Amino acid sequence: MAEATASAEGLTRREFLYYIWGASVALLVVESTGLLVWFMLPRFREGEFGGRFMLPVDVLPETNDPPFNFADGRFWLVNVNNEVEVGCERMWKAPSGGPNEESPIIGAAAIYKVCTHLGCIYTWVDANDRFECPCHGSKYRLDGRRIEAPAPRSLDRFKLLALDQNENVLAESTLGEDGQYNTLPLPEGTAFLQIDTGDKKDGISQALLVGPLSQECP
Ligand code: FES
Repeated sequence: MAEATASAEGLTRREFLYYIWGASVALLVVESTGLLVWFMLPRFREGEFGGRFMLPVDVLPETNDPPFNFADGRFWLVNVNNEVEVGCERMWKAPSGGPNEESPIIGAAAIYKVCTHLGCIYTWVDANDRFECPCHGSKYRLDGRRIEAPAPRSLDRFKLLALDQNENVLAESTLGEDGQYNTLPLPEGTAFLQIDTGDKKDGISQALLVGPLSQECP
């Protein structure tokens, strides 16, 4: 009787149910797509962790000096050169045997402040010229290279850009063969550093560097 009534109005009961079902599926698809887009959109703002930080180049330490601590961005800024004598006790040369072990390590880097073992916040220890983790004793060199386990790899790095006075990009971090960001030699005219904490690359597993830090000074 109901079908006869619907037919009389130009729509059968079965057609009506099909339309309801179709509309439900369409609604579900729209909702799922919306959720997916929302999930994929970056939700970090400039100057927040996970976003980009712009700092004047003056904050960068002198070559091989102790690192600059930028708490808001959860990174250290370092300026290293393993080919000079100044500060060499903080950047003693790595032995051969691993990827890029013999390459010069020169320039700036932004190093993530979280230990690669189990995620504790490590710190710079002036007395020992290295980063040390209070949780289980991992040690890292000034450039983030692993010195002592249990850290499974060297420290992670963020992408770094060198900008001029007008905020034009002069240079940016390049990726090494190992997938880690290389240190960035700063071009003449660099006025600002931009650190992209949304772009982090894992440190690499290298041989441990256990021993006195001054033994390989040039
Ligand atoms: S979390 Fe740093 S050594 Fe374990």
